Amino acid sequence: AAPLRTIAEKSGLRVGVAVDTDRLSDSAYAKLTAQQFSTVTPENAMKWEVVEPKQGQYDWSAADKLVDFAQAHGQLVRGHNLVWYSQLPQWLTDEAPSLTADQLSAILQKHITDEVTHFTGKIWQWDVVNEAFDDSGNLRDNIWIEKLGPDYIADAFRWAHAADPDAKLFLNDYGIETDGLKSQAEYDFVKQLVAQGVPIDGVGFETHLDADDPEQDLQTVMTQYAKLGIDVAITEADVKARTPVSKIDKTIQSSMFADSMSACLAVKQCISYTLWDLDDKDSWIPQYFPGEGGATLYDDELKPKPQYVALQQAL
Ligand code: XIL
Repeated sequence: AAPLRTIAEKSGLRVGVAVDTDRLSDSAYAKLTAQQFSTVTPENAMKWEVVEPKQGQYDWSAADKLVDFAQAHGQLVRGHNLVWYSQLPQWLTDEAPSLTADQLSAILQKHITDEVTHFTGKIWQWDVVNEAFDDSGNLRDNIWIEKLGPDYIADAFRWAHAADPDAKLFLNDYGIETDGLKSQAEYDFVKQLVAQGVPIDGVGFETHLDADDPEQDLQTVMTQYAKLGIDVAITEADVKARTPVSKIDKTIQSSMFADSMSACLAVKQCISYTLWDLDDKDSWIPQYFPGEGGATLYDDELKPKPQYVALQQAL
C-alpha cells in the first residue's frame, strides 16, 4: 500500500512524526521519515535548553538540519516549542528566582522573538505555549505563572505573531483528549483568548494514549474548538501498554490509533496528525513510564507493526 503521506493527501491532511535529529544519519531512519510523512516535529532540537545552552549563545545546528531535511523532502515543520516549564536551560532555572517580573518577561520576549525570527517563513505551526494546564484544570504552577501571572500566555502569542505573522500559533497540551476538568478549563481559556483577539490559530492535542484507558472524546472536543474558528491538530500521538505487550493490548492499541485518526478526519479543521517517535526503540515512553512501551507504529527493527496497518486503513 501507499505511504501514509500519500494516502493522507487526498483528505488534505498532513501526517507527521517527531524526529530525533541525531538519528537522521541512520539511512533506514531517514528513509522512512522522508517516505511516510509530510510534516516533521523536532523531538528536542528546538527546545530552549538546546537552542540557548548559555545565555546569549544560540545553537541552531540541530534544528536547522531538520528544517533542511524537511525542505528537501517536501515536508512542513511544526516548531516545538517556545514556552514550557520543562527542558529550560540551566542558566535560566538558576537565575529565575532572583529576577524581577520585568526582567523575566524581557528574557521570555527575547527568546520568543529570536527563535521565531531565526526560522521565519520556515515553520508551519508553532507550539507557542506547551502544557500550560495541570491535571486538575488550573494554570500550571511554574516560573512563568509565579513571576508573570496568566498574561504570559497571551504575551507569548503576541510576540510570536509579531516575529512571524504567517506561522500558525498553537497552544499544545496532553490529557485534553477526554472530556473532563482539564479539557474544559483549557477550552474556556482558549475561548477567552480568541474573544480578546489574541493571535492563537489552533490547539494541539498531544494524544499520548494508554491501552489501559481506551476512553477518548477527541471528535467532540476538537469540534468545540473548531466552532471557535480555530484549527486543531494531533501533535504527539502514541499508545503505550504494559510490556511485553499482550495480544489483546496490541489490538486495543491498533483501534486507538485508528479511532484518533478517524476523529481527526471527521473534523475539517484538524490539519495534521503527528506521531511521537517513529519506532519503539526511539520512543520516549520506556524511560518516562517504566514498564510500559510498544507505543509507536514500528518495532525495534523498523518493521511496521499491526498498529501501522490500522492507522493506514483508517486514513
Ligand atoms: C519528550 C522527548 O520525547 C524526550 O526525548 C525528552 O527527553 C523529554 O521530552 N510532551 C511534549 C514533548 O510536549 O516535548 C515531550 O518530549 C513528550 C511529552
